[in-house]
Amino acid sequence: MDSAIAQNINDNRLRSEAARQKDAPWRPIHYLGSKLRALPAIEEALREVSEEGAPVCDLFAGSGTVASWLSRSRPVTAVDIQEYSRVICDAMLNPSRLALPELEARITTAIAESKVSGVLRAARPLIELEECLVEQAKLGEPTGLANLIEASSFMTFSRNHADSRIMEAYLASERMLSATGKPSDLSTMVFRHFGGAYFSFEQAAKLDVLLDVVHSLTLGERRSPLAAILTTASDIVNTVGKQFAQPIRPRDKHGRVKQTLYSQVARDRFKDPVTIFLSSLEKYSKFPLPRFEHSAVRSDYLDFIRLGSFKNGVVYADPPYTRDHYSRFYHALETIALRDDPQISTNTAHGVTQPSRGVYRLDRHQSPFCIRSKAPTAFAQMFGEISRVGLSLVLSYSPYSSEKDSHPRVMTVDSIAKLAKKEFATVEVISIGGFSHSRLNKSELHKEASREAEFLFICRS
Ligand SMILES: C[S@@+](CC[C@H](N)C(=O)[O-])C[C@H]1O[C@@H](n2cnc3c(N)ncnc32)[C@H](O)[C@@H]1O
Repeated sequence: MDSAIAQNINDNRLRSEAARQKDAPWRPIHYLGSKLRALPAIEEALREVSEEGAPVCDLFAGSGTVASWLSRSRPVTAVDIQEYSRVICDAMLNPSRLALPELEARITTAIAESKVSGVLRAARPLIELEECLVEQAKLGEPTGLANLIEASSFMTFSRNHADSRIMEAYLASERMLSATGKPSDLSTMVFRHFGGAYFSFEQAAKLDVLLDVVHSLTLGERRSPLAAILTTASDIVNTVGKQFAQPIRPRDKHGRVKQTLYSQVARDRFKDPVTIFLSSLEKYSKFPLPRFEHSAVRSDYLDFIRLGSFKNGVVYADPPYTRDHYSRFYHALETIALRDDPQISTNTAHGVTQPSRGVYRLDRHQSPFCIRSKAPTAFAQMFGEISRVGLSLVLSYSPYSSEKDSHPRVMTVDSIAKLAKKEFATVEVISIGGFSHSRLNKSELHKEASREAEFLFICRS
């Protein structure tokens, strides 16, 4: 081939790859059931039931991938019951414009000050012990590290721990937390709740410092950096699936310390939260200034629709479909986003009540969509309220097969279609899984459902 032609083809390929990457949706957090791959199909379905550019309400916005994608062509209202979702969606829809070097300088100062008199100083005994035990694990003696991980965070720590080094380090940190003023100070919250369990003690304390700096910004400036802290937490969390369902288990079922413990810990706990925060913030700051008016709301789906403030548009809904509550997988992000100091839920086994190993917040949201007895009513109410205000709906029906040990879906395609047909003028089911965007007859539908395909219900009002 003529080398000029080859060069031209190559240039074009690079240009289209660059354009594709520029336009490619970004995943702000590791998230179960993100709609990344279904975005064009969702957009196409919405075009079928609404005018070009009409407002869309993403009623269960989650990680904000759909909301962010649609915001290029329509005004978007992103709704979710969880605050972490609101924070992430808000940052993607309405990014703040910040002087990054100035913020970086403030963080450097805050870290230095915290080492002298803040959370990094109070955490020092546990940080040093963890460093020493990680080093021992690297040299082939992982028992101390296993004990420390099992001792978990301040919120769950048992005050009569058998390992004296661990006991001393916890008590020394506790004394320093008290000496700095209030042991329940919000500026030590991530360290107390999640240090040792989901992050290294140092990472958790640094997340506290980042939160302190970000909360000192104005509300307008805070949007993107707050979301960047959530992205950082999701990136550095030391668990198998990168969620917060439970901390890693350092021992096997026979009580032996796992040989892989050091590599499992080293994979995440050496990551520097400040570096990851700054690169995440850069990603948020690359989001374009909005072309339309967008908003992100923390609300229950039904309360929001009943408000009646969203009109003349179309609704996209992607509720949960299995018994696994999203709030269990992302409770730490919720606590970081709310920056409160919640009580921890407890478990009782053999007459002994203990704080939950996952350090879950007591008021963790329980979604009716994840409860078999409540899901049909939740769907019926959603369909009823959306059609009552005259809106059309595109509903995702999601597989959950990518996750090990996942539960089957709470509702079948048929049962949902039956409920939707009671409220909407027409209801059409399309598959965006095995076939590409095909309209299905009844037997194909059953075949697809058993293959964990992905569906869209297109409901016209
Ligand atoms: C399947 S996820 C949505 C995923 C999203 N489409 C994405 O691509 O990231 C379901 C979402 O529903 C939210 N949710 C559960 N119950 C809710 C309720 N009652 N009201 C509003 N949102 C709810 C959960 O917090 C979760 O974020």
